[in-house]
Amino acid sequence: MAQLKSAADLEDFRKVLLDQRDPNKPCVTLCSGTGCHAYGCEKVALTFEEEIKKQGLDGKVDFRRTGCHGLCEKGPFVIIYPEEVCYTRVKPEDAAKIVSETVVQKKVIDSLLYVDPVTKKKIVRESEIPFYKNQMRLILGNNTKIDPKSIDDYIAIGGYSALAKAIHKMTPIEVLNEVKKSNLRGRGGGGFPAGRKWEECRNASGQIKYVIVNADEGDPGAYMNRSELEGNPHGTLEGLAIGAYAIGSHQGYIYVRQEYPLAVENVNVAMATAREYGLLGNNILNSGFDFDVRVHRGAGAFVSGESSALMTAIEGRVGEPRPKHVHTVIEGIWNRPSNLNNVETWANIPLIINKGADWFNSIGTERSKGTKVFSLVGKVNNTGLVEVPMGVTLREIIYTIGGGIPKGKKFKAVQTGGPSGGCIPEQHLDSPVDFDELTKLGSMMGSGGMIVMDEDTCMVDVAKYFTDFLCDESCGKCVPCREGLRQMRAILSEIAQGKGTEEQLKLLEELAPIVADTALCALGQTAPNPFLTTMRYFRDEYEAHVKEKRCPAFVCKALTSYYIDPEKCQACMICLRNCPVEAISGGKNQIHVLDQTKCTKCGTCYDVCPPRFGAVTRISGKPVPAAIPQSKRILVRAGREA
Ligand SMILES: Cc1cc2nc3c(=O)[nH]c(=O)nc-3n(C[C@H](O)[C@H](O)[C@H](O)COP(=O)(O)O)c2cc1C
Ligand code: FES
Repeated sequence: MAQLKSAADLEDFRKVLLDQRDPNKPCVTLCSGTGCHAYGCEKVALTFEEEIKKQGLDGKVDFRRTGCHGLCEKGPFVIIYPEEVCYTRVKPEDAAKIVSETVVQKKVIDSLLYVDPVTKKKIVRESEIPFYKNQMRLILGNNTKIDPKSIDDYIAIGGYSALAKAIHKMTPIEVLNEVKKSNLRGRGGGGFPAGRKWEECRNASGQIKYVIVNADEGDPGAYMNRSELEGNPHGTLEGLAIGAYAIGSHQGYIYVRQEYPLAVENVNVAMATAREYGLLGNNILNSGFDFDVRVHRGAGAFVSGESSALMTAIEGRVGEPRPKHVHTVIEGIWNRPSNLNNVETWANIPLIINKGADWFNSIGTERSKGTKVFSLVGKVNNTGLVEVPMGVTLREIIYTIGGGIPKGKKFKAVQTGGPSGGCIPEQHLDSPVDFDELTKLGSMMGSGGMIVMDEDTCMVDVAKYFTDFLCDESCGKCVPCREGLRQMRAILSEIAQGKGTEEQLKLLEELAPIVADTALCALGQTAPNPFLTTMRYFRDEYEAHVKEKRCPAFVCKALTSYYIDPEKCQACMICLRNCPVEAISGGKNQIHVLDQTKCTKCGTCYDVCPPRFGAVTRISGKPVPAAIPQSKRILVRAGREA
């Protein structure tokens, strides 16, 4: 491919690509994101390629690997165009039938269709699946249309036209003003206005400036940025180049965690091909603008996602935060002005430049514009990546898109904002998703983690889990975070074990705001959030643990026991056979007895006991009844001895 020498060259090339692509030509696309790789999509891909040849369709049918669709639990996803027939959980052995029946004969294979978990109806097109129907996929939408390793695919759907527009038709100040006018707020955590940050960096003194993509994504359970980079790396790259032009930078970095090998691979391919096409490097599209990018692979520490820590890591030092008396936009990498934004923030830029700030402002709430991608996980029917306009309610995300809580259980809370976010209870489910509204509730938007919890979740245990995580991830540089979190963890652990006192609970309430107020970086400053919000909304659960030594959700092992009720036991042997530590004795006609000294509280007996017997009960806050004597263990059924 010869280099594209001008904006007109890029447009001509796009026209050539579109002329070559017949929209009516059958095309089989297969998701090749990380989730689908885990389900063996590569083997499926190879089988499709073979089948297309074997059935004499070479050249008549296209095959394309694409990025993540977002509903990874149902992968590997196959979509057959132009009809858009969508198949889920596709295996290599399905390929021959899909090619011969759906591609050739246009017949839909019922058994491979998506089944809605709520209505149990089969759905033919992906866009009709309720999970997708109620989303607005401005950022994720292209993932399913393009091969992330093909720059031609990206250019064919309009890729790099925003960069061409910015560098040829707009001055850097005009680009900056458009981004400011769009009111785009950072998607990585704090929601800081992107345009303001860019302006500070542009105005900072110094010839050399850096622009950086934050793809560290250390939140447990979150994978929005991974999917965005894996599925459409050019989208972020294009946004970064536009930002560099506006700020006056010629060097960019993509900081991506080592544990994201596919994202690293696709970004490297994207950079190499963009260079080859003249969309990175010197004199981009003959505009006089020079810009190039390097990938920095992070070692996978949560704290390295913090801006100053990340920049220190790029310098080749340990990724620890520093006090930010001077902001990183003034003194960042090697003390030079450096502008850091999240993957998703950058990915919004081409859209804003192409469609305009007014269009962007038409989406969302008064103070939160555009869409936001969430990683919806936990106790919800449809787990996956969800992109919605700001302002939709938590209820719409969890129930309309997420399909509600599995097994008819009751919703208890949703944790937003990653490990240092907060838990929002049922009474606030109608709150809109908006930076400021979530903060008001004691939580935050964060980078988009959303964990749904049902009635079987213990909120003390949740606070303990996240405090544990943050304690382990604290870099230890400042005392409040290093020592304060350790003390908070110790007290929470005692409470969960039934050893906590009311004085300790008070101490925890005193300690949490002190840690928040005095820690060096936002890790420590927000780390008390899981405790503070669970305490604010679920105080009764803390009190039950402390005063009654009871775990209402039967989660804290030290406070929970399992007991087989001799009146209900039918000696069916199911619990006895399933107990992993052989703690249950009994026989075919002998009432089963659980030996409390051997029980590890795994709950298997409770889960497997047939509901019609309901013989295994959970006990918390009360003593376990004594086991019945051997002589009374013979089961008597309906008045007769068994
Ligand atoms: C402990 C910690 C971890 C963070 N991890 C990330 C991360 O993985 N990705 C991210 O974009 N921002 C992360 N942030 C926020 C960044 O410091 C920074 O605010 C953000 O990257 C700026 O981008 P934005 O303005 O586009 O949101 C983290 C902050 C803290 C305190
Ligand atoms: S990786 Fe295939 S749907 Fe997410």
